[in-house]
Amino acid sequence: MMHSAAGLPSRVSVIEVGPRDGLQNEAQFVATDVKVELIERLVGAGIRKLEVAAFVSPKWVPQMADGAEVLGRLSRRPGIALAALVPNLRGFDAAAAARADEVVVFSAASETFCQKNINCSIAESIERFAPVCKAAQERGIAVRGSISCSLGCPYEGEVQPQAVARVARLMKDIGVQTIGVADTIGVGTPRATQRAFEAVLAVYPLQEISGHFHDTYGQAIANVYACLEMGVSTFDASVAGLGGCPFARGATGNVASEDVVYLLHGLGIETGIELARLVQTGQWISGVLGRRAATRAGNAISANS
Ligand code: HMG
Ligand code: MG
Repeated sequence: MMHSAAGLPSRVSVIEVGPRDGLQNEAQFVATDVKVELIERLVGAGIRKLEVAAFVSPKWVPQMADGAEVLGRLSRRPGIALAALVPNLRGFDAAAAARADEVVVFSAASETFCQKNINCSIAESIERFAPVCKAAQERGIAVRGSISCSLGCPYEGEVQPQAVARVARLMKDIGVQTIGVADTIGVGTPRATQRAFEAVLAVYPLQEISGHFHDTYGQAIANVYACLEMGVSTFDASVAGLGGCPFARGATGNVASEDVVYLLHGLGIETGIELARLVQTGQWISGVLGRRAATRAGNAISANS
């Protein structure tokens, strides 16, 4: 049996965000059939938790308009958690009706990004999320929080770790159970990443913090490793590196799931994911979208198989 390197977690959970964070950015509408097949293939590769929908305004993000249908068509299996992004109570009600297992509320560490993304201040976003947390608790639905622009903002530039911790505290106080620290525009470097996570550690315990990296500046894998050194054991990733954020100019894709899983397995860290099937899924969806997959590991493995 392979052992992980000293000090690193022995098992890591990869949350697949491609069907939501990835596809939301596609200009052409991706057919519901394709979304469902993508999710089923990811589950087949061993992914246990996925973001599959966003119950946001279809005027703002038309690509996510079929969330209820996507959730309705997915087969439910024990141990598989299907998550949906919700910006307010209305979104929560839709997610609950569609039987989402988890909802994700999302704010930002920067005021300007929060305004551009969800059309309200950080404080107002918390006011919107408080009733979501209450309703979710009553219905036994898990709530995760996501803090965009934790390592930099396309409008405000540098973001201080204390600004991230402040939003984490606001989320904790309304009952958000787990927290995602997101580098929306991929500007973070490893030490800056560790500083942001250290600040959040004053609010949430290690097991309740996840990392969400974009590879815009080629730093995502280094940042994942920096988090692993701190003991962080949950990461978002997107198959084939799909994605970007429609409200963050120039932001390229999320870190590719294939690259993260290749890193983790190379370190002897268990994920429960079958890398070869994940790679096939990334190549398949890239083919459907008519482009080359944005994953170094995925393309290399594919070329050699
Ligand atoms: P608003 O304009 O401030 O709010 O939008 P409103 O209450 O005035 O509503 C505007 C319209 O949206 C109305 O429709 C509402 O009915 C409708 P109209 O009267 O114009 O026909 N509406 C809704 N429709 C469906 N579902 C809902 C809902 N709520 C209102 N839940 C709102 C506020 C938040 C709704 C809007 O700004 C919005 O939808 N924004 C989308 C934000 C988004 O999805 N961003 C991308 C995801 S975040 C991300 O990718 C980052 C992340 O991955 C981490 C990272 O990388 O950083 C999480
Ligand atoms: Mg993202």
